[in-house]
Amino acid sequence: MDDKRLMYADLKEDLLLTREQIAERVREIGKQITEDFRGRDLTVICILKGAVVFFVDLVREIDLPMTMDFMAISSYGSATKTSGVVRILKDLDKPVNGRDVLIIEDIVDSGMTLSFLRENLLSRGAASLHIATLLDKPERRRVPLHVDYCGFTIPDEFVVGYGLDYAERYRNLPDIGILRPEVYEK
Ligand code: IMP
Ligand code: MG
Repeated sequence: MDDKRLMYADLKEDLLLTREQIAERVREIGKQITEDFRGRDLTVICILKGAVVFFVDLVREIDLPMTMDFMAISSYGSATKTSGVVRILKDLDKPVNGRDVLIIEDIVDSGMTLSFLRENLLSRGAASLHIATLLDKPERRRVPLHVDYCGFTIPDEFVVGYGLDYAERYRNLPDIGILRPEVYEK
């Protein structure tokens, strides 16, 4: 049995989103962003590490000149519930003042990470700020947050794959599945 097969054993049997479903939706969002940002000075910011897989797929579906930057944020540790504390682990390389910024994130849960980032980047003088997330769990929101582009709204379950991790594992699964509770309860 190879590694992939081993990892799939930790997921509930039915995948939440297959690679085909994800790819189709990423194409749609890319097209929409291409239309919406035509003629703007776009900087896309990848929120490491969870968004990295979505980011590399999405930017290739956006047919516009852009610059890229990367930021690493911590709010979780290895638990499955948010701590509410947001820390910048790696900051942007370049200033964003005057730029039209698009943040690319894997999932919005409590909303605390992105509401922190929104304020943080606006305070640095970004000309505009939009948010694209692959997944959204609206049931878990603790602070209000406007999401401009959302791939899929999902139920309140802990999911992994396509960049999303549990304790840094499973990011390389090409599909998204629900982690069996036995895996994080043991
Ligand atoms: P928020 O600040 O509570 O919105 O948390 C967002 C972050 O929590 C995401 O960037 C993920 O790293 C993590 N997260 C939330 N839900 C999940 C999940 O179901 N699987 C994996 N990571 C998650
Ligand atoms: Mg994470």
